[in-house]
Amino acid sequence: MGRQKHYEQQEILDLDYQGYGIAKPEGRVVFVEGVLPGEIVDVRVTRRKKNVGFGIPTAINRRSKLRTEPFCAHFGVCGGCTWQYLGYDDQLRYKERFVAEVLERLGGLAEPAPLPIIGCERDRFYRNKLDFSFSPTRWLSGEEIERREDTPDRRALGFHVKGRFDRVLDVGTCYLQPDPSNEIRTQARRIARERSYSFHDPARHEGLLRSLIVRTTEDGEAMVILVIHEERPDLAAAYLTELANAVPAITSAHYVVNPSRNDDIGPHEAHHVLGTQVIHERCARLRLAIHPKSFYQTNTRQAERLYAVVREWLDAGPTDTMLDLYCGIGSIGLFLADRVGRVVGVEYVEEAVAGARLNARLNDIPNAEFHAGDVRELLAAAGRAGSPIERPDLIVLDPPRAGVHPQVIAELIRLAPRQIVYVSCKPSTQARDLAALNEHYEVKRVQPVDMFPQTFHIESVADLRRREGTT
Ligand SMILES: C[S@@+](CC[C@H](N)C(=O)[O-])C[C@H]1O[C@@H](n2cnc3c(N)ncnc32)[C@H](O)[C@@H]1O
Repeated sequence: MGRQKHYEQQEILDLDYQGYGIAKPEGRVVFVEGVLPGEIVDVRVTRRKKNVGFGIPTAINRRSKLRTEPFCAHFGVCGGCTWQYLGYDDQLRYKERFVAEVLERLGGLAEPAPLPIIGCERDRFYRNKLDFSFSPTRWLSGEEIERREDTPDRRALGFHVKGRFDRVLDVGTCYLQPDPSNEIRTQARRIARERSYSFHDPARHEGLLRSLIVRTTEDGEAMVILVIHEERPDLAAAYLTELANAVPAITSAHYVVNPSRNDDIGPHEAHHVLGTQVIHERCARLRLAIHPKSFYQTNTRQAERLYAVVREWLDAGPTDTMLDLYCGIGSIGLFLADRVGRVVGVEYVEEAVAGARLNARLNDIPNAEFHAGDVRELLAAAGRAGSPIERPDLIVLDPPRAGVHPQVIAELIRLAPRQIVYVSCKPSTQARDLAALNEHYEVKRVQPVDMFPQTFHIESVADLRRREGTT
Protein backbone atom coordinates (compact mmCIF):
# COMPACT_ATOMS: atom_id res chain seq x y z
CA MET A 1 0.00 0.00 0.00
CA GLY A 2 1.32 3.46 -0.89
CA ARG A 3 1.82 6.22 1.66
CA GLN A 4 -1.41 7.76 2.88
CA LYS A 5 -1.69 11.41 1.87
CA HIS A 6 -2.26 13.96 4.59
CA TYR A 7 -3.70 17.41 3.93
CA GLU A 8 -3.87 20.26 6.44
CA GLN A 9 -6.40 23.07 6.89
CA GLN A 10 -9.03 21.80 4.47
CA GLU A 11 -12.44 23.42 4.44
CA ILE A 12 -15.44 21.10 4.37
CA LEU A 13 -17.53 22.47 1.55
CA ASP A 14 -20.69 20.40 1.84
CA LEU A 15 -22.16 17.04 2.89
CA ASP A 16 -22.85 14.38 0.31
CA TYR A 17 -25.95 12.19 0.52
CA GLN A 18 -24.05 9.42 2.32
CA GLY A 19 -23.11 11.79 5.16
CA TYR A 20 -19.50 12.38 4.09
CA GLY A 21 -18.04 15.88 4.23
CA ILE A 22 -16.62 17.03 0.91
CA ALA A 23 -13.12 18.57 0.80
CA LYS A 24 -11.16 19.43 -2.35
CA PRO A 25 -7.42 19.36 -1.62
CA GLU A 26 -5.48 20.10 -4.81
CA GLY A 27 -8.82 20.27 -6.61
CA ARG A 28 -9.56 16.56 -6.10
CA VAL A 29 -12.64 15.40 -4.20
CA VAL A 30 -12.06 13.69 -0.86
CA PHE A 31 -15.01 12.36 1.15
CA VAL A 32 -14.29 12.84 4.84
CA GLU A 33 -15.99 10.97 7.69
CA GLY A 34 -17.31 12.66 10.82
CA VAL A 35 -17.13 16.31 9.76
CA LEU A 36 -19.59 19.11 9.02
CA PRO A 37 -19.78 21.88 6.41
CA GLY A 38 -17.76 24.98 7.31
CA GLU A 39 -15.27 23.04 9.44
CA ILE A 40 -11.55 23.36 8.78
CA VAL A 41 -9.85 20.00 9.23
CA ASP A 42 -6.64 18.08 8.67
CA VAL A 43 -7.41 14.96 6.64
CA ARG A 44 -5.67 11.65 6.12
CA VAL A 45 -6.73 9.92 2.90
CA THR A 46 -7.19 6.26 3.79
CA ARG A 47 -8.33 4.89 0.43
CA ARG A 48 -8.98 5.87 -3.15
CA LYS A 49 -11.67 4.70 -5.50
CA LYS A 50 -11.59 5.74 -9.15
CA ASN A 51 -10.64 9.41 -8.96
CA VAL A 52 -12.02 10.26 -5.52
CA GLY A 53 -10.47 9.73 -2.10
CA PHE A 54 -11.95 8.76 1.27
CA GLY A 55 -10.43 10.10 4.46
CA ILE A 56 -10.66 10.68 8.18
CA PRO A 57 -10.03 13.91 10.07
CA THR A 58 -6.85 13.92 12.15
CA ALA A 59 -7.69 17.35 13.65
CA ILE A 60 -10.72 19.63 13.58
CA ASN A 61 -9.19 23.10 13.60
CA ARG A 62 -12.42 25.06 13.27
CA ARG A 63 -15.64 23.48 14.55
CA SER A 64 -19.07 23.96 13.06
CA LYS A 65 -21.64 25.65 15.28
CA LEU A 66 -23.84 22.67 14.58
CA ARG A 67 -21.41 20.18 16.15
CA THR A 68 -22.78 18.54 19.32
CA GLU A 69 -21.24 16.30 21.98
CA PRO A 70 -21.94 12.59 21.27
CA PHE A 71 -24.02 11.05 24.06
CA CYS A 72 -22.68 7.49 23.87
CA ALA A 73 -19.38 6.33 25.39
CA HIS A 74 -18.81 4.04 22.39
CA PHE A 75 -19.19 6.77 19.78
CA GLY A 76 -16.37 6.81 17.25
CA VAL A 77 -15.47 3.13 17.62
CA CYS A 78 -18.89 1.50 17.33
CA GLY A 79 -20.28 1.06 13.84
CA GLY A 80 -23.80 1.98 15.08
CA CYS A 81 -24.94 5.58 15.60
CA THR A 82 -22.33 7.38 13.52
CA TRP A 83 -24.08 10.78 13.33
CA GLN A 84 -24.22 11.72 17.02
CA TYR A 85 -22.11 14.83 16.49
CA LEU A 86 -25.09 16.55 14.83
CA GLY A 87 -28.33 17.46 16.68
CA TYR A 88 -31.45 15.57 15.59
CA ASP A 89 -33.20 18.57 13.98
CA ASP A 90 -30.14 19.22 11.84
CA GLN A 91 -29.93 15.54 10.90
CA LEU A 92 -33.50 15.81 9.63
CA ARG A 93 -32.75 18.94 7.65
CA TYR A 94 -29.83 17.22 5.90
CA LYS A 95 -31.75 14.01 5.28
CA GLU A 96 -34.52 15.91 3.53
CA ARG A 97 -31.87 17.52 1.36
CA PHE A 98 -30.18 14.15 0.64
CA VAL A 99 -33.46 12.80 -0.78
CA ALA A 100 -33.87 15.86 -3.03
CA GLU A 101 -30.27 15.55 -4.15
CA VAL A 102 -30.40 11.89 -5.17
CA LEU A 103 -33.71 12.35 -6.96
CA GLU A 104 -32.18 15.11 -9.03
CA ARG A 105 -28.67 13.74 -9.50
CA LEU A 106 -29.33 10.01 -9.84
CA GLY A 107 -32.95 10.06 -10.98
CA GLY A 108 -32.95 13.20 -13.15
CA LEU A 109 -36.02 14.34 -11.20
CA ALA A 110 -35.69 17.95 -10.10
CA GLU A 111 -39.46 17.96 -9.60
CA PRO A 112 -41.36 17.30 -7.47
CA ALA A 113 -39.38 18.55 -4.47
CA PRO A 114 -39.74 16.10 -1.56
CA LEU A 115 -42.37 16.97 1.05
CA PRO A 116 -41.10 18.07 4.48
CA ILE A 117 -39.52 15.10 6.24
CA ILE A 118 -41.45 13.21 8.94
CA GLY A 119 -39.08 12.94 11.92
CA CYS A 120 -39.23 10.57 14.89
CA GLU A 121 -40.66 11.46 18.26
CA ARG A 122 -37.97 9.29 19.88
CA ASP A 123 -34.45 9.76 18.55
CA ARG A 124 -33.01 7.13 20.95
CA PHE A 125 -34.23 3.68 21.99
CA TYR A 126 -36.20 3.48 18.76
CA ARG A 127 -35.13 0.06 17.42
CA ASN A 128 -37.02 -3.17 18.01
CA LYS A 129 -34.21 -5.46 16.88
CA LEU A 130 -30.46 -5.63 17.49
CA ASP A 131 -27.90 -8.24 16.56
CA PHE A 132 -24.94 -8.59 18.95
CA SER A 133 -21.82 -10.56 18.06
CA PHE A 134 -19.70 -12.71 20.33
CA SER A 135 -15.93 -12.54 20.03
CA PRO A 136 -13.05 -14.15 21.96
CA THR A 137 -10.91 -11.03 21.52
CA ARG A 138 -12.64 -7.80 22.34
CA TRP A 139 -11.42 -4.64 20.60
CA LEU A 140 -8.90 -2.75 22.73
CA SER A 141 -8.79 1.02 22.65
CA GLY A 142 -5.51 2.79 21.76
CA GLU A 143 -5.21 3.79 25.45
CA GLU A 144 -5.55 0.22 26.65
CA ILE A 145 -2.88 -0.95 24.25
CA GLU A 146 -0.58 1.85 25.39
CA ARG A 147 -1.09 0.96 29.06
CA ARG A 148 -0.01 -2.58 28.14
CA GLU A 149 -2.12 -3.96 30.94
CA ASP A 150 -2.72 -7.66 31.09
CA THR A 151 -6.13 -8.31 29.61
CA PRO A 152 -6.46 -12.07 29.93
CA ASP A 153 -10.22 -12.30 29.45
CA ARG A 154 -11.17 -10.52 26.28
CA ARG A 155 -14.44 -12.38 25.59
CA ALA A 156 -16.91 -9.83 24.28
CA LEU A 157 -20.53 -9.42 23.25
CA GLY A 158 -21.38 -6.29 21.33
CA PHE A 159 -21.20 -4.60 17.96
CA HIS A 160 -18.68 -4.65 15.18
CA VAL A 161 -16.13 -1.89 15.26
CA LYS A 162 -16.73 0.70 12.54
CA GLY A 163 -15.46 -0.66 9.23
CA ARG A 164 -14.06 -3.87 10.84
CA PHE A 165 -16.23 -6.90 10.36
CA ASP A 166 -13.71 -9.09 12.19
CA ARG A 167 -13.55 -6.96 15.36
CA VAL A 168 -16.14 -6.67 18.14
CA LEU A 169 -16.59 -3.91 20.68
CA ASP A 170 -17.74 -5.06 24.11
CA VAL A 171 -20.79 -2.83 24.48
CA GLY A 172 -21.79 -1.38 27.87
CA THR A 173 -24.91 0.78 27.45
CA CYS A 174 -26.49 1.01 24.03
CA TYR A 175 -29.06 3.74 23.28
CA LEU A 176 -30.72 2.03 20.35
CA GLN A 177 -33.17 -0.45 21.84
CA PRO A 178 -35.39 -0.05 24.92
CA ASP A 179 -35.31 -2.26 28.00
CA PRO A 180 -34.62 -5.06 28.55
CA SER A 181 -32.10 -5.09 25.68
CA ASN A 182 -29.07 -3.87 27.67
CA GLU A 183 -29.90 -6.21 30.52
CA ILE A 184 -30.23 -9.21 28.20
CA ARG A 185 -26.84 -8.55 26.60
CA THR A 186 -25.14 -8.00 29.97
CA GLN A 187 -26.56 -11.19 31.46
CA ALA A 188 -25.89 -13.21 28.30
CA ARG A 189 -22.23 -12.21 28.42
CA ARG A 190 -21.94 -12.94 32.15
CA ILE A 191 -23.47 -16.40 31.89
CA ALA A 192 -21.42 -17.35 28.83
CA ARG A 193 -18.22 -16.33 30.59
CA GLU A 194 -19.12 -18.09 33.83
CA ARG A 195 -20.02 -21.30 31.98
CA SER A 196 -16.86 -21.03 29.85
CA TYR A 197 -18.78 -21.38 26.60
CA SER A 198 -16.49 -20.69 23.66
CA PHE A 199 -16.94 -17.41 21.75
CA HIS A 200 -16.78 -17.57 17.97
CA ASP A 201 -13.74 -16.37 16.08
CA PRO A 202 -14.67 -15.78 12.41
CA ALA A 203 -11.05 -15.74 11.23
CA ARG A 204 -10.40 -19.24 12.63
CA HIS A 205 -13.99 -20.30 11.97
CA GLU A 206 -14.26 -21.85 15.43
CA GLY A 207 -16.01 -21.20 18.74
CA LEU A 208 -19.62 -22.01 19.59
CA LEU A 209 -21.44 -18.74 20.35
CA ARG A 210 -21.79 -16.55 17.23
CA SER A 211 -24.47 -13.95 17.90
CA LEU A 212 -27.47 -13.00 19.96
CA ILE A 213 -30.42 -11.30 18.30
CA VAL A 214 -32.78 -9.40 20.59
CA ARG A 215 -36.26 -8.38 19.40
CA THR A 216 -38.54 -6.27 21.57
CA THR A 217 -42.11 -5.03 21.14
CA GLU A 218 -43.97 -1.91 22.20
CA ASP A 219 -46.05 -3.99 24.62
CA GLY A 220 -42.99 -5.36 26.44
CA GLU A 221 -42.47 -8.76 24.81
CA ALA A 222 -38.84 -9.75 24.25
CA MET A 223 -37.47 -12.50 21.99
CA VAL A 224 -33.89 -13.75 21.95
CA ILE A 225 -32.39 -15.80 19.14
CA LEU A 226 -29.05 -17.39 19.90
CA VAL A 227 -26.93 -18.26 16.86
CA ILE A 228 -24.44 -21.05 17.45
CA HIS A 229 -21.80 -22.52 15.21
CA GLU A 230 -22.54 -26.22 15.65
CA GLU A 231 -25.36 -28.53 16.69
CA ARG A 232 -25.43 -28.38 20.53
CA PRO A 233 -29.15 -28.39 21.37
CA ASP A 234 -28.73 -29.21 25.07
CA LEU A 235 -26.21 -26.46 25.63
CA ALA A 236 -28.31 -23.91 23.70
CA ALA A 237 -31.40 -24.81 25.74
CA ALA A 238 -29.50 -24.67 29.05
CA TYR A 239 -27.97 -21.31 28.17
CA LEU A 240 -31.26 -19.77 27.05
CA THR A 241 -33.09 -21.12 30.11
CA GLU A 242 -30.48 -19.64 32.44
CA LEU A 243 -30.69 -16.34 30.55
CA ALA A 244 -34.51 -16.26 30.77
CA ASN A 245 -34.30 -16.96 34.51
CA ALA A 246 -31.86 -14.06 34.91
CA VAL A 247 -34.04 -11.73 32.78
CA PRO A 248 -37.69 -12.67 33.38
CA ALA A 249 -38.79 -10.07 30.78
CA ILE A 250 -37.71 -12.55 28.06
CA THR A 251 -40.93 -14.01 26.65
CA SER A 252 -39.59 -16.12 23.78
CA ALA A 253 -36.28 -17.85 23.03
CA HIS A 254 -34.94 -19.73 20.01
CA TYR A 255 -31.62 -20.91 18.68
CA VAL A 256 -30.27 -21.26 15.15
CA VAL A 257 -27.31 -23.39 14.08
CA ASN A 258 -25.18 -21.64 11.47
CA PRO A 259 -22.07 -23.65 10.56
CA SER A 260 -21.29 -21.55 7.47
CA ARG A 261 -18.72 -18.79 7.05
CA ASN A 262 -21.28 -16.05 6.50
CA ASP A 263 -23.61 -14.62 9.13
CA ASP A 264 -26.87 -14.99 7.19
CA ILE A 265 -29.25 -17.10 9.27
CA GLY A 266 -31.82 -17.10 6.44
CA PRO A 267 -31.07 -20.67 5.28
CA HIS A 268 -31.03 -22.16 8.81
CA GLU A 269 -33.99 -23.27 10.89
CA ALA A 270 -34.99 -21.50 14.13
CA HIS A 271 -35.50 -23.99 16.99
CA HIS A 272 -37.95 -22.93 19.66
CA VAL A 273 -36.71 -23.35 23.25
CA LEU A 274 -39.04 -21.52 25.62
CA GLY A 275 -41.87 -19.02 25.95
CA THR A 276 -44.03 -18.15 22.95
CA GLN A 277 -43.15 -19.18 19.38
CA VAL A 278 -43.65 -15.63 18.09
CA ILE A 279 -43.93 -12.17 19.60
CA HIS A 280 -46.63 -9.65 18.74
CA GLU A 281 -46.28 -6.08 17.61
CA ARG A 282 -49.02 -3.49 17.40
CA CYS A 283 -49.21 -1.48 14.19
CA ALA A 284 -52.18 0.93 14.35
CA ARG A 285 -55.16 -1.42 14.61
CA LEU A 286 -53.21 -4.48 13.47
CA ARG A 287 -51.65 -7.08 15.72
CA LEU A 288 -48.70 -8.69 13.96
CA ALA A 289 -47.04 -11.97 14.87
CA ILE A 290 -43.27 -11.80 14.39
CA HIS A 291 -41.29 -14.96 13.77
CA PRO A 292 -37.57 -15.06 14.72
CA LYS A 293 -36.44 -14.89 11.10
CA SER A 294 -39.00 -12.48 9.64
CA PHE A 295 -38.20 -8.96 8.55
CA TYR A 296 -40.21 -6.27 10.28
CA GLN A 297 -39.55 -2.53 10.13
CA THR A 298 -37.02 -1.92 12.92
CA ASN A 299 -38.63 1.32 14.14
CA THR A 300 -42.14 0.30 15.16
CA ARG A 301 -43.65 3.71 15.90
CA GLN A 302 -42.28 5.21 12.73
CA ALA A 303 -43.45 2.22 10.66
CA GLU A 304 -47.01 3.25 11.54
CA ARG A 305 -46.38 6.74 10.21
CA LEU A 306 -44.71 5.37 7.08
CA TYR A 307 -47.65 3.08 6.37
CA ALA A 308 -50.07 5.96 7.07
CA VAL A 309 -48.45 7.89 4.19
CA VAL A 310 -48.98 4.93 1.85
CA ARG A 311 -52.58 4.61 3.03
CA GLU A 312 -53.31 8.28 2.52
CA TRP A 313 -51.85 8.23 -0.98
CA LEU A 314 -53.44 5.01 -2.17
CA ASP A 315 -55.96 5.84 -4.87
CA ALA A 316 -57.98 2.72 -4.18
CA GLY A 317 -61.47 1.38 -4.91
CA PRO A 318 -63.39 -1.57 -3.47
CA THR A 319 -62.89 -3.79 -6.51
CA ASP A 320 -59.17 -3.12 -6.98
CA THR A 321 -56.50 -5.79 -6.78
CA MET A 322 -53.35 -4.57 -5.08
CA LEU A 323 -49.95 -6.28 -5.09
CA ASP A 324 -47.79 -5.93 -1.96
CA LEU A 325 -44.33 -6.79 -3.30
CA TYR A 326 -41.48 -7.70 -0.91
CA CYS A 327 -44.22 -7.99 1.71
CA GLY A 328 -42.31 -9.49 4.68
CA ILE A 329 -44.94 -10.49 7.25
CA GLY A 330 -47.64 -8.76 5.20
CA SER A 331 -47.83 -5.60 7.27
CA ILE A 332 -48.35 -3.06 4.47
CA GLY A 333 -50.89 -5.17 2.58
CA LEU A 334 -52.87 -5.96 5.72
CA PHE A 335 -52.80 -2.29 6.73
CA LEU A 336 -54.44 -1.40 3.38
CA ALA A 337 -56.69 -4.43 2.86
CA ASP A 338 -59.92 -2.65 3.88
CA ARG A 339 -59.39 -0.13 1.08
CA VAL A 340 -59.27 -2.65 -1.80
CA GLY A 341 -61.02 -5.77 -3.08
CA ARG A 342 -58.01 -8.07 -2.93
CA VAL A 343 -54.44 -7.98 -1.64
CA VAL A 344 -51.77 -10.28 -3.07
CA GLY A 345 -48.44 -10.30 -1.22
CA VAL A 346 -45.14 -11.72 -2.52
CA GLU A 347 -42.09 -12.50 -0.41
CA TYR A 348 -39.28 -15.05 -0.69
CA VAL A 349 -38.71 -15.92 3.00
CA GLU A 350 -41.09 -18.85 3.57
CA GLU A 351 -41.41 -18.20 7.32
CA ALA A 352 -42.38 -14.59 6.63
CA VAL A 353 -45.08 -15.74 4.20
CA ALA A 354 -46.40 -18.17 6.82
CA GLY A 355 -46.33 -15.21 9.24
CA ALA A 356 -48.23 -13.02 6.79
CA ARG A 357 -50.95 -15.67 6.43
CA LEU A 358 -51.12 -16.02 10.22
CA ASN A 359 -51.39 -12.24 10.53
CA ALA A 360 -54.28 -12.17 8.05
CA ARG A 361 -56.12 -14.71 10.21
CA LEU A 362 -55.18 -13.01 13.47
CA ASN A 363 -56.65 -9.75 12.22
CA ASP A 364 -59.68 -11.29 10.51
CA ILE A 365 -58.70 -10.10 7.07
CA PRO A 366 -60.24 -12.43 4.48
CA ASN A 367 -59.20 -10.65 1.27
CA ALA A 368 -55.39 -10.95 1.58
CA GLU A 369 -53.33 -13.85 0.21
CA PHE A 370 -49.58 -14.34 0.27
CA HIS A 371 -47.25 -16.22 -2.06
CA ALA A 372 -43.71 -17.40 -1.42
CA GLY A 373 -41.23 -16.77 -4.20
CA ASP A 374 -38.93 -14.36 -5.92
CA VAL A 375 -40.72 -11.16 -6.96
CA ARG A 376 -38.97 -11.31 -10.33
CA GLU A 377 -40.24 -14.80 -11.14
CA LEU A 378 -43.76 -14.36 -9.80
CA LEU A 379 -44.19 -11.08 -11.65
CA ALA A 380 -42.94 -12.61 -14.89
CA ALA A 381 -45.83 -15.10 -14.68
CA ALA A 382 -48.42 -12.59 -13.39
CA GLY A 383 -51.45 -11.98 -15.58
CA ARG A 384 -50.67 -15.11 -17.62
CA ALA A 385 -52.56 -18.42 -17.64
CA GLY A 386 -51.92 -20.55 -14.54
CA SER A 387 -50.49 -17.74 -12.43
CA PRO A 388 -52.09 -17.05 -9.03
CA ILE A 389 -51.46 -13.37 -9.66
CA GLU A 390 -53.77 -11.46 -11.95
CA ARG A 391 -53.10 -8.04 -13.45
CA PRO A 392 -53.11 -5.56 -10.57
CA ASP A 393 -54.75 -2.15 -10.43
CA LEU A 394 -52.31 -0.96 -7.77
CA ILE A 395 -48.82 -2.01 -6.67
CA VAL A 396 -47.07 -1.19 -3.41
CA LEU A 397 -43.44 -2.26 -3.26
CA ASP A 398 -40.90 -2.12 -0.46
CA PRO A 399 -37.70 -3.73 -1.76
CA PRO A 400 -34.43 -4.20 0.15
CA ARG A 401 -31.67 -1.61 -0.10
CA ALA A 402 -30.48 -2.78 -3.51
CA GLY A 403 -33.79 -1.62 -5.03
CA VAL A 404 -35.42 -3.61 -7.81
CA HIS A 405 -33.94 -5.68 -10.62
CA PRO A 406 -34.26 -4.23 -14.16
CA GLN A 407 -36.45 -7.19 -15.08
CA VAL A 408 -38.85 -6.30 -12.26
CA ILE A 409 -39.03 -2.78 -13.70
CA ALA A 410 -39.90 -4.29 -17.08
CA GLU A 411 -42.65 -6.41 -15.49
CA LEU A 412 -44.09 -3.43 -13.62
CA ILE A 413 -44.36 -1.62 -16.95
CA ARG A 414 -45.94 -4.66 -18.61
CA LEU A 415 -48.51 -5.09 -15.83
CA ALA A 416 -49.33 -1.36 -16.04
CA PRO A 417 -51.09 -0.72 -12.70
CA ARG A 418 -52.57 2.77 -12.56
CA GLN A 419 -50.58 3.59 -9.41
CA ILE A 420 -47.32 2.38 -7.89
CA VAL A 421 -46.33 3.38 -4.36
CA TYR A 422 -42.61 2.74 -3.92
CA VAL A 423 -41.34 2.55 -0.31
CA SER A 424 -37.55 2.61 -0.13
CA CYS A 425 -34.91 2.37 2.58
CA LYS A 426 -32.27 3.63 0.14
CA PRO A 427 -33.24 6.73 -1.83
CA SER A 428 -30.28 6.40 -4.22
CA THR A 429 -31.49 3.06 -5.58
CA GLN A 430 -35.07 4.34 -5.52
CA ALA A 431 -34.00 7.33 -7.63
CA ARG A 432 -32.37 4.98 -10.17
CA ASP A 433 -35.57 2.88 -10.33
CA LEU A 434 -37.85 5.93 -10.66
CA ALA A 435 -35.71 7.08 -13.58
CA ALA A 436 -36.12 3.66 -15.22
CA LEU A 437 -39.92 3.89 -14.81
CA ASN A 438 -40.16 7.53 -15.79
CA GLU A 439 -41.29 7.08 -19.38
CA HIS A 440 -44.37 5.21 -18.17
CA TYR A 441 -44.85 6.53 -14.62
CA GLU A 442 -44.86 10.09 -13.39
CA VAL A 443 -43.63 10.78 -9.86
CA LYS A 444 -46.38 12.84 -8.22
CA ARG A 445 -44.88 13.27 -4.75
CA VAL A 446 -42.08 12.00 -2.54
CA GLN A 447 -42.18 11.79 1.25
CA PRO A 448 -38.97 11.29 3.27
CA VAL A 449 -39.63 9.51 6.57
CA ASP A 450 -36.89 9.15 9.14
CA MET A 451 -36.72 5.66 10.62
CA PHE A 452 -33.07 5.70 11.71
CA PRO A 453 -32.05 8.67 13.93
CA GLN A 454 -28.30 9.16 14.60
CA THR A 455 -27.46 7.54 11.24
CA PHE A 456 -27.42 8.82 7.64
CA HIS A 457 -30.09 6.35 6.57
CA ILE A 458 -33.44 7.61 5.45
CA GLU A 459 -36.66 6.05 4.14
CA SER A 460 -38.50 7.58 1.20
CA VAL A 461 -41.99 6.95 -0.25
CA ALA A 462 -42.81 7.85 -3.85
CA ASP A 463 -46.26 8.08 -5.44
CA LEU A 464 -46.18 7.13 -9.13
CA ARG A 465 -49.08 7.42 -11.59
CA ARG A 466 -49.23 5.78 -15.00
CA ARG A 467 -48.81 8.32 -17.75
CA GLU A 468 -51.70 8.73 -20.19
CA GLY A 469 -51.47 6.56 -23.28
CA THR A 470 -48.75 4.21 -22.01
CA THR A 471 -50.74 0.96 -21.72
C1 LIG B 1 -37.50 -3.81 3.22
S1 LIG B 1 -38.24 -5.38 3.60
C2 LIG B 1 -39.98 -4.94 3.52
C3 LIG B 1 -40.90 -5.81 4.33
C4 LIG B 1 -42.31 -5.31 4.55
N1 LIG B 1 -42.86 -4.63 3.43
C5 LIG B 1 -42.44 -4.46 5.81
O1 LIG B 1 -42.82 -3.29 5.72
O2 LIG B 1 -42.18 -4.98 6.90
C6 LIG B 1 -37.91 -6.26 2.14
C7 LIG B 1 -38.44 -7.68 2.12
O3 LIG B 1 -38.21 -8.20 0.82
C8 LIG B 1 -37.84 -9.57 0.89
N2 LIG B 1 -37.13 -9.83 -0.38
C9 LIG B 1 -35.90 -9.38 -0.73
N3 LIG B 1 -35.62 -9.73 -2.01
C10 LIG B 1 -36.69 -10.41 -2.48
C11 LIG B 1 -37.01 -11.02 -3.73
N4 LIG B 1 -36.17 -10.97 -4.76
N5 LIG B 1 -38.21 -11.61 -3.87
C12 LIG B 1 -39.08 -11.66 -2.82
N6 LIG B 1 -38.84 -11.09 -1.61
C13 LIG B 1 -37.67 -10.48 -1.43
C14 LIG B 1 -37.04 -9.64 2.18
O4 LIG B 1 -37.05 -10.96 2.70
C15 LIG B 1 -37.79 -8.64 3.08
O5 LIG B 1 -38.80 -9.30 3.84
